[in-house]
Amino acid sequence: MKGLLTAGGHGTRLRPITHTKNKHLIPIANRPMLSYAIGYMAEAGIEEIGIIVNARDREIESEFGSGEEHGVKLSYIEQDAPLGLAHVVQIAEPFIGKDSFLFYLGDNILVGGVKKFVEEFEASKSNCHLVLSRVADPERFGVPEIEGDKIVSIEEKPASPKSDFAVTGIYLYDSSIFEAVNGIEPSARGELEISDAHQFLLDTGRSVSFSEITGWWKDTGKPSDLLEANRLVLDNLTGVKAAKVDGKSSVNGKVVTGEGTTIVNSQVRGPAVIGQNVHIENAYIGPYTAISDDCRVVGSEVEYSIIMSGSSVENVERRIEASLLGHDVELSQSQIRPRAHRIMVGDQGRVEVA
Ligand code: DAU
Repeated sequence: MKGLLTAGGHGTRLRPITHTKNKHLIPIANRPMLSYAIGYMAEAGIEEIGIIVNARDREIESEFGSGEEHGVKLSYIEQDAPLGLAHVVQIAEPFIGKDSFLFYLGDNILVGGVKKFVEEFEASKSNCHLVLSRVADPERFGVPEIEGDKIVSIEEKPASPKSDFAVTGIYLYDSSIFEAVNGIEPSARGELEISDAHQFLLDTGRSVSFSEITGWWKDTGKPSDLLEANRLVLDNLTGVKAAKVDGKSSVNGKVVTGEGTTIVNSQVRGPAVIGQNVHIENAYIGPYTAISDDCRVVGSEVEYSIIMSGSSVENVERRIEASLLGHDVELSQSQIRPRAHRIMVGDQGRVEVA
């Protein structure tokens, strides 16, 4: 079995972070989002993975290279424009050949990996195996209609969903999917929809099996989804490793810190992950915080947030919460009069001052 992973698209809802960084490389618990999907595939015994990237995007390849580090062989497939997920499958046909494959949307994060679904697909001997999750807002997803133990139809982002299930971004196929993606037309929004390809399989009498994710699953489209995914991964943190902590500091709960990190006169309450060469002084780091390498948090409080590398938070009176800071961001409170907000934010930045 091969793997096909998406890392294309524009990530518009995550701007301005995605102006300078591919969405799939945003750190979740200090690891690029896509590394979880690659790890899950490797764990399921998938050795050859094709990654769909935007045309001329070298960022993903610079990060993951040949895949050796993850024990897999990676190939990069360029998509000229994000014309839809069925288009992704179309252009991957030369890579997949006659194999069956796991198609995984790189912005989906889940607990427990994908091995179980690969085994269920193989046991079912179906043409297509979908992984469903019960959601509060099915209209944002592909939605199945289920009768008894069978899926009878699938619609993409329906105004009136026929169930409260989302079809998650974890799909297993045999080669009949290629006939389906080549047999459909673009939708009203101009994309070749993967849900229409699934409907094509149903209409042409192919067997579509399914299973339900009972654990945690998230499609990380919005900033709040990233914070939730970060929380989820931190909740399952292992390999606790302490930093250099002075006598006036306390570190409680699951906290992982990298080499060269110092904690001075501060309180860190896990679960939290702090990268390398981070300096924390006179500060409070609360649960569900991920701070990447080379950051400084001084005289400030941070909780339930993601801070990317090279950033600093200094002498900010109010607690920073539910926040996303990109790379090399400087956040400080003015110590000189007049005490005014002096802000320099890039295009589509978002600042909420309390
Ligand atoms: O997350 C599950 C949902 O994913 C499913 O329930 C929907 O049926 C499915 O259409 C998809 O919906 P989204 O609106 O969330 O898809 P999105 O456009 O965000 O793209 C998902 C991933 O695929 C993301 O990694 C970006 C990438 N992508 C997307 C398109 C349209 C590509 O690489 N190329 C593309 O052409």
